[in-house]
Parts: sequence; structure tokens; C-alpha cells
Amino acid sequence: MATASVPAQPAYNDTVIRGFALASVIYGIVGMLVGVFIAAQLAWPELNFGIPWLSYGRLRPLHTNAVIFAFGGCVLFATSYHVVQRTSQVTLFAPKLAMFTFLGWNLVILLAVLTLPMGITTGKEYAELEWPIDLLITVVWVSYAIVFFGTVGTRKVKHIYVANWFFGAFIIAVALLHVVNSAEVPVSLFKSYSAYAGVQDAMVQWWYGHNAVGFFLTAGFLGIMYYYIPKQADRPVYSYRLSIVHFWALIFTYMWAGPHHLHYTALPDWAQSIGMLFSLVLLAPSWGGMINGIMTLSGAWYKLRDDPILKFLIVSLSFYGMSTFEGPMMSIKTVNALSHYTDWTVGHVHSGALGWVGFVSIGALYFLIPRLWGRKTMYSTRAIALHFWVATIGIVLYIAAMWIAGVMQGLMWRAVNPDGTLVYSFVEGVKATYPFYVIRVLGGLLYVSGMFIMAWNTWMTVRSSRAAVAPIPTVQTAHA
Ligand code: HEM
Ligand code: HEM
Repeated sequence: MATASVPAQPAYNDTVIRGFALASVIYGIVGMLVGVFIAAQLAWPELNFGIPWLSYGRLRPLHTNAVIFAFGGCVLFATSYHVVQRTSQVTLFAPKLAMFTFLGWNLVILLAVLTLPMGITTGKEYAELEWPIDLLITVVWVSYAIVFFGTVGTRKVKHIYVANWFFGAFIIAVALLHVVNSAEVPVSLFKSYSAYAGVQDAMVQWWYGHNAVGFFLTAGFLGIMYYYIPKQADRPVYSYRLSIVHFWALIFTYMWAGPHHLHYTALPDWAQSIGMLFSLVLLAPSWGGMINGIMTLSGAWYKLRDDPILKFLIVSLSFYGMSTFEGPMMSIKTVNALSHYTDWTVGHVHSGALGWVGFVSIGALYFLIPRLWGRKTMYSTRAIALHFWVATIGIVLYIAAMWIAGVMQGLMWRAVNPDGTLVYSFVEGVKATYPFYVIRVLGGLLYVSGMFIMAWNTWMTVRSSRAAVAPIPTVQTAHA
């Protein structure tokens, strides 16, 4: 509140942020339920029910698109719009365009939900949507860039806080990746062919795929980490200098690591080795960032004891550290010879996805949601604590099962008898994997149960604030 001696706080535009925050919770549940369903199909293939729309091949891309772009995307929109206003001390630039990004992004998601189960796909992983939707994504993304950088450009403070550097890099890099990788020749409304062919196509695709991890699933969420951990811990970030080194080293290194997805393929050997080398180097900036986040708590570790939001945020960094150690190891060609094609990769993906991306998002949403509805805390802190434990047990079951299954598969596939024949047939490997697939279903169920607890808590928070402050203001004044 403004007083005579304190300068007035700017009026922040939180309408769009509320929309994105609620959408994140809903899309998180939907995307993860599809994940649980396809996990169950791998254990019990009858769950395809002979219906093409429900077949594994069509629902898998629905899962990845829903969790990465719908859940993760909405979290990134909500948090970046929230952070850029508070750290720039101005309201959102071009509010109508910001509302357009909300409507446009939801339209993209709706079109994905309709087209992917129908089997309409480009066949490029994480870039499956067909060309008309690609065009819509480009328009929405350019609008997002205008809103974000417009807000930074009209800021009232000289300094650009490091979280905005990460958000800005994420927005620019994703635009570049999307435009280059989606270059395609349409042959009908629902079908196009890639502009690239053969090994070039593979290289462009994995330059895209790896940087989708680096910029969509990492840089943007590091922006979240750099704002919400200091806020929730009520401490300044551990080292501002380290955050700048972290930023430049990470941005530079990620771009070159893509070929580690193409080991032992037709890609020239030297390109594979470059991919491996840069992946190994990537360990350093990744851990620099993790240490910077975790050390922000130094001197205040006791806060972890009874603050479940902080638990989500700090444990997310532990998973970030784990998956960014594991990734460089898997990029070593001899290790990749064992891990590639196995469930080890899927375990690695989900320690990053559930542990890092999921937990940092959930922590930030628990910080954000009450504030967006004029409350100090969520309706129930005990429900947040319950969510944390249920989800943590879920992740552990999921990734431990996949690691064991993955290493076992790799070893079974390469085992040879003295006469050179295979020790195990492929189907023996599948049979041995079955119990681990069942454990994964259980882990996924626990993780998604946590999301239901979150949805209930969000509903109660919004409902109780409606009762307290009716009607909800469209423009909220709040402190940075
Ligand atoms: C309840 C939670 C989840 C469950 C049960 C689940 C389950 C699955 C399953 C069964 C697959 C297919 C694996 C295969 O083809 O062998 C998969 C793939 C994938 N999921 Fe999830 N998932 C969950 C949450 C998430 C989240 C939150 C994210 C991202 C933020 C995510 C990202 C991915 C990605 C990127 C892949 C593709 C992996 C690859 O190609 O190696 N998942 N998931
Ligand atoms: C230093 C950081 C990292 C490195 C060097 C790295 C490296 C790798 C390697 C070598 C693979 C296996 C490629 C293959 O055999 O096909 C892989 C797969 C993958 N990683 Fe990572 N990783 C890192 C961090 C992460 C993080 C933090 C996430 C998630 C948030 C993640 C998500 C994925 C996904 C989705 C795949 C599967 C791609 C696919 O085949 O569809 N990675 N990563």
C-alpha cells in the first residue's frame, strides 16, 4: 500500500498469470494421467482396447506434448510474466497481446489434443504438431517475446535481474529452434515433409531435441529457480557473480551437445565426439547453478524442516544435479552403447522431468497461487507436505524401476554365448522387464495423486479468497 513516505507500488497485471497458473495445474493432471495410462499399456498391452485413438503410438506424443508444452509451458508463461513485472517494477507491456498469448497457447494445446490421437503428426519427437499449428505457435511465441522484452525494455530499475536473463534466453532459443526444425513442405492441410533429409534431418532434429531440454526444460526453469528460491527462503541469491558465469557457460555449451542423441549412427564420428565432449563440459555449469541455488539456503537450513514449499524447491535442485550428472555420463560413447534404446534413458528423462521440472514448478506454483488471489499462504500447508512426500516416493519408485530395468535390458541384449549367438531372445528381455513396468505404474499413480492434492488445495485457496475479497480485482497491487 502506498503511504506518503513510500513511493507507490506499480499496478501489476495478474489476470493472465492467474489463467496460466490454473491451466498448469489442470494440464499437469491431464498430461500425467496420460503418462500413467501409457505406462500401464506397456505392462498390459490389452489396454489399447483395439481402438486406434488409444494406441500407445498416438498417446505417447500426447503425453510428452501435454507435460512439456501444456504443463511446463503454462508454468513458464505464468512465472515469467510474474517475475518480469516484479523485478522490473512495471506492469506487463502490451496487456492485450499478453491475453492473446494465453488464448493462443491454449488453442495450440486444444489442437494438439485433437490431432495427435487422430495420428496427425510430423513424426519428429517433441515437434510432432503439423504445419498449421506450427505457424500458430510461431505467432504466439513472437507475441510472448514482445510482451516479455517490452516489459524488460520499459523497466523502472536499471538492473536486469538474472532470472530475466534465463527467461529471455529461453524465449529467444525456443523461437530459433522451432523455426529451424519446423521448416517443412506442406502437401495438404494435415501433412508436410521436413525440409531436411537423411542424416541432416536427424542432426537438425536432435539439435532441436537436446536444446528443447536445454532451453525449454532447463533455462526457463532456472529463471524460476533464481527468483522463487530466494523469495521463499527470504535470502539473497548465494552468489550473483556465479549466476552470471552460470548463465553464459550454460547457454554456450548446450547448443553443441545434441549429437549425443545420435551415437553410433550415420552421423560423422567427429560430430558424435563433439557432442560427447560438450556434454561432459556441461556438467560444470549445471552444477554451478545447482550449487548456487542450494547454497542460497546457507545459514537458513532450518527453514527446510517445516516449509514444504522450500522442500519442493530444494529437492528439485537435487534432482537437477542428479540428472545433469547422469546425462554427461550417458553421453560417453561406451556408456551410451549400453544405455541407448533401454529404459535407462526413460529413467534419466523422468528424474529430470518429475524431479527437477515437476518439483520446481510445483514449488513456484505454491508460492504464486495464494499471492495471485490475495492470500499469504495456500489453504492447507499440511496438504502441501503430504503432496511432497507422496510425489517423492512416486519419483523414487519410477526412476529406480527404470534404472534397474534399463541396465538389465542393456546387459541382456549384449550377452553372447561362446559361439557368438545371443544368450537371451528379445522377448526374454521384455518378460524380465514386466515387474519394473508395474512398479513404474505405481510410482506414476503416486505422483499424479500428489497433483490431485494440489488441485484440491488450489481450489480451496481460490474459493476462500473469493469469499474474503469479492470481487477479485483484475489488476492487483502487490509488493515485489
Ligand atoms: C505421472 C507421471 C508420469 C508418468 C507415469 C510418465 C510416464 C511415461 C511413459 C510410460 C513414457 C514412455 C516411455 C517409453 O516410451 O518407453 C514417458 C515418456 C516421456 N515422458 Fe513421462 N511420465 C510422467 C510425467 C512426465 C513429466 C512431468 C514430464 C515432463 C515434464 C515427462 C516427460 C516425458 C518425456 C520427455 C518422455 C519421452 C522420453 C524418451 O523419449 O526417452 N513425463 N513418460
Ligand atoms: C548436463 C545435462 C544433460 C546431459 C549432458 C544429458 C545427456 C543425455 C543423453 C546422453 C541422453 C541419451 C541419448 C540417447 O541415448 O538417445 C539423454 C536423453 C534425454 N535427456 Fe538428458 N542430459 C542432461 C540433462 C537433462 C535434463 C535436466 C533433462 C530433463 C529435464 C533431460 C532430458 C532428457 C530427455 C527428454 C532425453 C530423451 C530424449 C529422447 O530420446 O527422446 N536431460 N540426455
